[in-house]
Amino acid sequence: MIQFKKVTKIFYPQTVALKDVSLRISPREFVSIVGQSGAGKSTLIKLLTAAEQPDKGQILLGGWEITNLKAGDIPVLRRQIGVVYQDFKLLPRKTIFENVAFAMQVCGVSNKRINQVVPQVLKIVGLKEKSDRYPQQVSGGEIQRAAIARALVHRPKILLADEPTGNLDTLNTKDIIDLLLKINEFGTTVILVTHNKDVVNRIKKRVVVLDSGQIISDQEEGKYVL
Ligand SMILES: Nc1ncnc2c1ncn2[C@@H]1O[C@H](COP(=O)(O)OP(=O)(O)OP(=O)(O)O)[C@@H](O)[C@H]1O
Ligand SMILES: [Mg+2]
Repeated sequence: MIQFKKVTKIFYPQTVALKDVSLRISPREFVSIVGQSGAGKSTLIKLLTAAEQPDKGQILLGGWEITNLKAGDIPVLRRQIGVVYQDFKLLPRKTIFENVAFAMQVCGVSNKRINQVVPQVLKIVGLKEKSDRYPQQVSGGEIQRAAIARALVHRPKILLADEPTGNLDTLNTKDIIDLLLKINEFGTTVILVTHNKDVVNRIKKRVVVLDSGQIISDQEEGKYVL
């Protein structure tokens, strides 16, 4: 369970990025977060990864209060959450396999375990055949799938995707959304931030609309009507 309790985030001096936001997301839910530019969507994602701290309110993850964490607890939190960004960059001198493996190496995971897990996640995202290619030898959609693979290596309970399809054409966008839906069916909570009305309306799951830092609509099988 993810819980935001009256969360306010201010970027001083004058921007109220989130104002009194309360939100509950159950395990295994798929939630799309939509809203205009500057509405506070990425801020919400950053608060969940403890990249930013709220000014007021509490954020709980499985009953664990993640606001004002000790420095040592931040890696523990981040291993439970996979994150994918729009402008995700792969390391150009590493293959797809090595890029995904790198996320485990930096956490001190053994090579034996890396060689088990990386092929599994690459298979899930449909990149097994291309694992030895370098980033410049694959398409934008495939880079985004590699980004998702990288976010999955720690078997996160929660996957946060902030505009993961922003740079993609319609066909690649559909593939990425289908992949997120598949990951969700395996039991991962997925929070998808998107501007794309067609995407949201095709997913037919819960939609939370943010406007100027506040939730103005929260509907099951919602539509994006702004
Ligand atoms: N580090 C920061 N310093 C100051 N203001 C910030 C910072 N990050 C975000 N903001 C401001 O907070 C508000 C919310 O930003 P946020 O990035 O959450 O919007 P968003 O909904 O993700 O927009 P977009 O769709 O353009 O990505 C905006 O007014 C933005 O300018
Ligand atoms: Mg954003």
